[in-house]
Parts: sequence; structure tokens; C-alpha cells
Amino acid sequence: MQVDTPALLSFFEAALEADYTRLKRIGNVLAKAMAADGDVAGAKSLQSMLRRRGVPLQTSGYAESLPRDSGSQQPLVEEAAWPTVPLLLNDDAGQVVSRFLEDARHVELLTSQGVASRLAMLLHGAPGTGKSLLAGHIAAQLGVPIYTVRLDSIISSRLGDTAKNIRNVFDFAPGRRAVLFLDEIDAVAKVRDDRNELGELKRVVNTVLQGLDSLQDDTVVIAATNHPHLLDPAIWRRFPYKIDLGVPDDRVRSDMWTHYLFRGDGTRHAEAALLGKFSEGLTGADIENIAMSARRREVLEGAEPPLAQALLAVASSKAGAPSLIDRRSLSHDDRRALAALLQERIGLEVTNIAKIIGVSRQMAHRYLKEHSHAE
Ligand SMILES: Nc1ncnc2c1ncn2[C@@H]1O[C@H](COP(=O)(O)OP(=O)(O)OP(=O)(O)O)[C@@H](O)[C@H]1O
Ligand SMILES: [Mg+2]
Repeated sequence: MQVDTPALLSFFEAALEADYTRLKRIGNVLAKAMAADGDVAGAKSLQSMLRRRGVPLQTSGYAESLPRDSGSQQPLVEEAAWPTVPLLLNDDAGQVVSRFLEDARHVELLTSQGVASRLAMLLHGAPGTGKSLLAGHIAAQLGVPIYTVRLDSIISSRLGDTAKNIRNVFDFAPGRRAVLFLDEIDAVAKVRDDRNELGELKRVVNTVLQGLDSLQDDTVVIAATNHPHLLDPAIWRRFPYKIDLGVPDDRVRSDMWTHYLFRGDGTRHAEAALLGKFSEGLTGADIENIAMSARRREVLEGAEPPLAQALLAVASSKAGAPSLIDRRSLSHDDRRALAALLQERIGLEVTNIAKIIGVSRQMAHRYLKEHSHAE
């Protein structure tokens, strides 16, 4: 293909001005030219790149059109990039997501038959269970940008501006094929605690309700909260699709270990399953953190830390407070404690315990005995 100088110049100009819209247009023109030149594969990959990339609004040509807080001039809405990590979900949650995506993709048909439901989904669950990740995945699956609104930040603004901010956000949403993501939606309820003023709480809740009701049928809105019990029942009712993200189950935890620790290597299944069983109660974010600490050790020390190190880190982690892998080797006490935990928590045989903690079978026996005596 010959270099098309004017196209190249406008490409650089658009890129340097961070003009997302123009850049995409030029990309599409280029892709067509490539296809016409016979480079079908090149054209296809350029086109899929153009479809895939979410550009943060702050750095893009759209920044001017973002609604802002009139006092601080901070944007009320931000565009997030599509996630790069996979979403691993329990079966129940996965089913709600599939149903939601199917309904969103066929909204016109469903509307024409008079059976469409609002495309509003409420995600609740502890921190680090993947609420933001799930919202990003839905946007990516639908091929649309995701606009995130942190309710807690727009609500802590000057008294009286809150309702205006909420209205601005909902005015901004229609007409854009996008996912509107209302993060920390329980912040609406906090008005009551912070200001001790019921009148304002009512106004704020009403503004959110009006905003939700004003959206067209085909607008996708996703809300997330760590405190579902704080939500006003009227807000709760506006979301026909609800997912309790809870903590991941056995299978999902094992998949998380495969992905985050073993980089998708299916041959490490047995270890992933063991870690999965052992890490009951931990969230996706906890598992990711522990796994990343192991991989950092691997990069810095040139060898993968033994499985026992990962298990020990899991043993001393709590949901929301993962304990990372440090460089020290296992002490006798560590081995003894781990042997007992592997037996108690997941009923592992002595032979396997010995292998994992790196001692002879007799030694593992002794550890277990010593431990039961010490109790
Ligand atoms: N279900 C999951 N599948 C894969 N990765 C996950 C999952 N849950 C959490 N993670 C990992 O943890 C990170 C943090 O999750 P995320 O920000 O989505 O949690 P959240 O529920 O929105 O938490 P918060 O309430 O603190 O906002 C994710 O980016 C991902 O790397
Ligand atoms: Mg989140």
C-alpha cells in the first residue's frame, strides 16, 4: 500500500489533539483503503481495533461535553476503558448476565412485542467481588462505551447542587449508545446520615428515581453497591435484574487461580483446584492480589515460589485483607501449621501434605501429631 500523505497527516493531527471521533473516522477510511488494496486481514484487524478500544474521556475529544459539577468543575461522569481481565462468575450470576445481554441485544424486538423490560441491573456484593468488572464486561459485550458515575462523589458536593448533578447525569445519558454505570448508589442513602436532613434525602432519592424513569427502554443502566440494605426500596424496585455477586464458589476460585497465578495454563489444574478449595471465603480481588505477589517473586527471584508459600498466604488472608507472599522460606512452625490446615480444611492425605510442604511422610505425620498435642 502506498503512503497516503494527507490521510497520514490528519491521522497524526487527530492523535495529537486526542480527537477520538476523528481518529476513528480516519481509521475506518484507512481500513476501507486497505481492503480495496487486497489487505483484507489487515483491514479486519484495524476495524476490530477501532471497535474494541475504549478511550478514557478525559484524554479524548469528548471531554468538553461531559457534565461537570458547577462548583468544583470536576466531571460527574468518566468513561472507563473496557476490562482486559476475564470475568469469572458463579453459575447463577452468569445466567442472569446472559439473560440480560440477550434482552439488551434484542430490545427492539422485545419492545415491538410489548414485552421489553427496563435494561437496569443492580449489582451487590462485598468489595472486590467484581461489580465494576462485570459492568465493564457488559459494555464490552454490547460493544458500547461505559460511563461511570460515582454517586458518592457527586453527592458530597455543595448542598443543593446534588440534585442538579444527578439531573445532569441522567440528561447526559439518553441518545448515547452506552452503559451508564452508577457506582456506590447507596451513597444516596448517606445524605441522611451526613446531614441529618430528611427533606434533602427525599429530594435526592426522588431525583434518582425520576432520572431512572426518564431513561429510554434501550438505555442500559447498571448500579452497584456494597450496602444493599441501605438502598431505598423504590430504587431497589427500579432494577429488574439483580445479581448478588457474593464470594466465588469452589470452581470459580479454582479458575481464578488458573488465570491469575498460572496464566491460564490448564496443566496446572490440580494445584489450582487445591488452592481453590483452600481459599474459601476470599474474593476475586484477594486471589488476584495473592497471585500477583507470587508472580512478582517469580520475576524478581527467577523461580516460582513453591505452592506451599501460596497456600500459607491464603491461610493468613481474610476476605478484603489478602496476605501477600513474602520472600522468606517456610519455617518449621509454618510447615506444621500448614500441614494441620491442609488436613482440617480440605481433608488432604498425609502423603499429599508431605509433598506440598516438602518433607518426608514421617515428618508430616510428626507435624500433625505435634499439632494435635499442642491444641
Ligand atoms: N469475578 C471476578 N472474576 C475475575 N476477576 C475478578 C473477579 N472479581 C474480582 N476480580 C479481580 O479483582 C479486581 C477488582 O474487582 P472490582 O473492582 O470489579 O470489584 P468491585 O466489586 O467493583 O469492588 P468495590 O466494591 O471495591 O468497587 C478486578 O479488576 C479483577 O482483577
Ligand atoms: Mg467497584
